[in-house]
Amino acid sequence: MMMSLQDVLFSQGFGTRRICSGLIQQGHVTVGPDQQLCTDPGTVLETEDLVFTVQGSRWPFQRRAYLMLHKPAGFECSHKPGAHPSVYTLLPAPLRQRAGTAAAGVQAVGRLDQDTTGLLLLSDDGKFIHRLTSPRHHVPKVYEVGTKHPVDDRQLQRLLGGVVLDDDPRPVRAAACERTGDCQLRLTLTEGKYHQVKRMVAAVGNRVETLHRSSMGPVHLPADLPPGGWRWLTQDEVVALAGGAVS
Ligand code: URA
Repeated sequence: MMMSLQDVLFSQGFGTRRICSGLIQQGHVTVGPDQQLCTDPGTVLETEDLVFTVQGSRWPFQRRAYLMLHKPAGFECSHKPGAHPSVYTLLPAPLRQRAGTAAAGVQAVGRLDQDTTGLLLLSDDGKFIHRLTSPRHHVPKVYEVGTKHPVDDRQLQRLLGGVVLDDDPRPVRAAACERTGDCQLRLTLTEGKYHQVKRMVAAVGNRVETLHRSSMGPVHLPADLPPGGWRWLTQDEVVALAGGAVS
């Protein structure tokens, strides 16, 4: 797609068109792999594979943003958090301001509790978010659970067989469940009810002490992404998560 440099910056979340024009005219923007200074906001560019820098930071042009964050404990998945800072403060400002979507900026794909760590996906593609959070699609989510008491076979069987939670008479069951230590479980869920892991584990007479999400569908949290760190999803990851359909 052909776009003026000013519109490129605007679409990628660098502020109003006026702010973007100012950044360009003041010499804060370079274009291309060889970082050519460009001071004309009207310069027309092909956005496919476009890379640019703004005040020294390098950005790839992304029509839609798809990323993963290693959520640390102590952050809320809300734009207006209560007692803890928001996960969105862990992202650079342009990702929170991206234009052109109903709700500006990237949004979390479902929520993790404040004290839960691990894989959180974010995007500004509403269809993608809907697909991954819709109960119809049964996207498997894997949780590493630390429990207060040793996990016994009866608890494992009940988690797999189905437990009734207080808000729904239909039992919810783990798609997979294995003991990974005395007080450690690996639990796979295909739904995303409120506090589901904690409530399921409580329903079988144990208690969640630590909770970490290690994967969502085909995407795993990489070992080299530290807590608080984020990276773009690769094209293959996006396509695999979207079931082959990306807008
Ligand atoms: N289940 C929970 O109880 N908490 C989470 O954060 C995710 C799943």
